[in-house]
Amino acid sequence: MTSPRRSVLDNAVVYQIYPRSFKDSDGDGIGDIRGICEKLDYLEQLGVDVLWLSPIFASPNDDNGYDISDYRAIMKEFGTMADVEELIAQARQRGMRILLDLVVNHTSDEHEWFRQSCSSKDNPYRDYYIWRDPAGYSEDGTPLPPNNWISAFSPSAWEFDETTGQFYLHMFSPKQPDLNWENPEVRREVYDLMRFWLDKGVGGFRMDVINLISKPQELIDAPLAVNDPAVAGGSRESSLAMSVNGPRVHEFLQEMRREVLDDYDTLTVGETPITTVEDGILYAGFERGELDMIFTFEHVSLDFSEQGWGKWSDRRTSLSALTATLEHWQKGLEDRAWNSLYWNNHDQPRAVSRFGNDSPEYRVVSACMLGTVLHMMCGTPYIYQGEEIGMTNVSFPEIDDYDDLETHDAYDTYVRSGIISHEQMMRFIAAKSRDNARTPMQWDESEHAGFTTGTPWLPLNPNYPEINARAAVADPHSVYHHYRRLIALRREYPVIRRGSFHLLEPDSETIFSYARATAEDRLVVVANVSATTVECDYAAASPAALQRRGVEGAGWQLISSNYADDAGSVLRPYEAKVYLGHAPQS
Ligand code: NOJ
Repeated sequence: MTSPRRSVLDNAVVYQIYPRSFKDSDGDGIGDIRGICEKLDYLEQLGVDVLWLSPIFASPNDDNGYDISDYRAIMKEFGTMADVEELIAQARQRGMRILLDLVVNHTSDEHEWFRQSCSSKDNPYRDYYIWRDPAGYSEDGTPLPPNNWISAFSPSAWEFDETTGQFYLHMFSPKQPDLNWENPEVRREVYDLMRFWLDKGVGGFRMDVINLISKPQELIDAPLAVNDPAVAGGSRESSLAMSVNGPRVHEFLQEMRREVLDDYDTLTVGETPITTVEDGILYAGFERGELDMIFTFEHVSLDFSEQGWGKWSDRRTSLSALTATLEHWQKGLEDRAWNSLYWNNHDQPRAVSRFGNDSPEYRVVSACMLGTVLHMMCGTPYIYQGEEIGMTNVSFPEIDDYDDLETHDAYDTYVRSGIISHEQMMRFIAAKSRDNARTPMQWDESEHAGFTTGTPWLPLNPNYPEINARAAVADPHSVYHHYRRLIALRREYPVIRRGSFHLLEPDSETIFSYARATAEDRLVVVANVSATTVECDYAAASPAALQRRGVEGAGWQLISSNYADDAGSVLRPYEAKVYLGHAPQS
């Protein structure tokens, strides 16, 4: 059965804005809401119709806004509530929907609820957070945490509070205490704040680590880290695994839909680390009444460390592993739930540096190739600011040049304890730090790339004189125009939105190719994911060669390419082509 929601979803193309780094309108070096308004023309011309804003709310910025101290106030550096209302209105006039980032697994420790909660054990807000007694005391009287969980950004997931003699749980930094969703008052508060924003006209939410909201009541130890000498207890991954997809998560999400979302026209996407296809169908199944789609992590975890150091590694994934993972999700959700499609976001390194080739020779062509293979799959494509102009990773010389708390925590964990050398860790950081995504948007070749007239809060990538939006818009062969055409193709051809998915060369380490099919139409996407020229007999959509690969179709025509001409059955470095055909006449 086709869900009525599906037509909203399959046309949408989302653009993610990291407001701090997008466009500064007042010269303080920090991007802001008015800056976003200034760039709406640019986004409209690109063709996106949903804008997801990373958090814009009051925050002490321990984790750049993912630590919220007031859900109904705007971060001062970003502007005022009037600015946000103006942005919502201007976006609406252009047919664009604004998604806000709903960060409700945790708050800031500076949120009034937490201040109250800390003040005494019998404060009415005590039960808004997850408090536990110490497991015991060490010989010198130090209280021991309730279990061995490690947090994403600090050595333990527990922080001791001297005033009340208990620990509170924080799966992220100690300044991000986890809310207690078992408490119906907490859920009511969240639903109220969602209504507050929906009543202002926002069009939905991206929900931060939403599969962490239901914690197992026992809070038992995580399995010990097998090969990570940096940590004594559970590893980051095993601790996270203990706290995801908990016993009441689906009940809470269904309640949220009944209590709030059902009353509005919304689009929702949940960030759900450590989630299988089976879980994905529960969260984003068409008939389940939970979320519209989820962000999965498998394809961005394939290049993790083989030494047990989590994401900290500079190795590349093999193409066959990547395509197998993408296929697994494409086929797993087919007709049952909805995919989100992404290479990039504010937590991930730049796609062209990670999966493509950011050398001057191949940057544009490989960024276009990555866009092609992503946008032609089934699901809602997400574009992260700067991806559409092929922005690349940055490499800062010193650890203190980096801002991100995760990067600093990892450096402290591994280098200061002597497990990874400084030089090796700086290479890993250059490959994986979240700051790769957070350097300011490169608008033009003027000072600070036109991002600000002041001093940028994070240094720019020095390559902005060559890589910038003004240059990309002026060049018809740029990544920007390629993305614009890909978005237009999605709107034009139903087979891109709804066709089934069939991976053509599962074992290839150079070619990523797949076919899509509806009853009437066929699509073939063929891409060379390498810097060498390769032979591919169906690269020019020869019907016989395609038939040998199991693709029946006729009337093939080339509808997208990242090269100016066609080399037939030869695929040049990072060449990516899309052919449209129709079903064979019976
Ligand atoms: C996921 C967000 O994407 C990330 O930026 C943040 O640090 C954590 N959740 C904690 O909110």
